[in-house]
Amino acid sequence: VAITYVTHDGQRYCVDVSAGMNLMEGATLNMVPGVDGQCGGICSCATCHCYVPASWQSRAGLAADGERQMLEHAKHRRDDSRLGCQVVITDALDGIEIHLPPEQG
Ligand code: FES
Repeated sequence: VAITYVTHDGQRYCVDVSAGMNLMEGATLNMVPGVDGQCGGICSCATCHCYVPASWQSRAGLAADGERQMLEHAKHRRDDSRLGCQVVITDALDGIEIHLPPEQG
């Protein structure tokens, strides 16, 4: 599945990620800067914060309550904020562009 991560300073990382992984894993395994994933994907750190464009949100699924609560702690939170570890990559996300916040934590 082709995923493009765009860092806050505009660098683009186009990577190929297997379906079934999540957006945090796709970034960290491919050394994309700006995604930390400190908790390893258990929805308790918010260092995998990213922005999913509105046009893709229906394909990315909705944030569960736990994710929404954790996002309250993310800096630079926006309406399109998601936790990357909670977005499972499926074929429907092929070609998606994920934007990353200025910093994590
Ligand atoms: Fe910690 Fe996503 S990796 S909340």
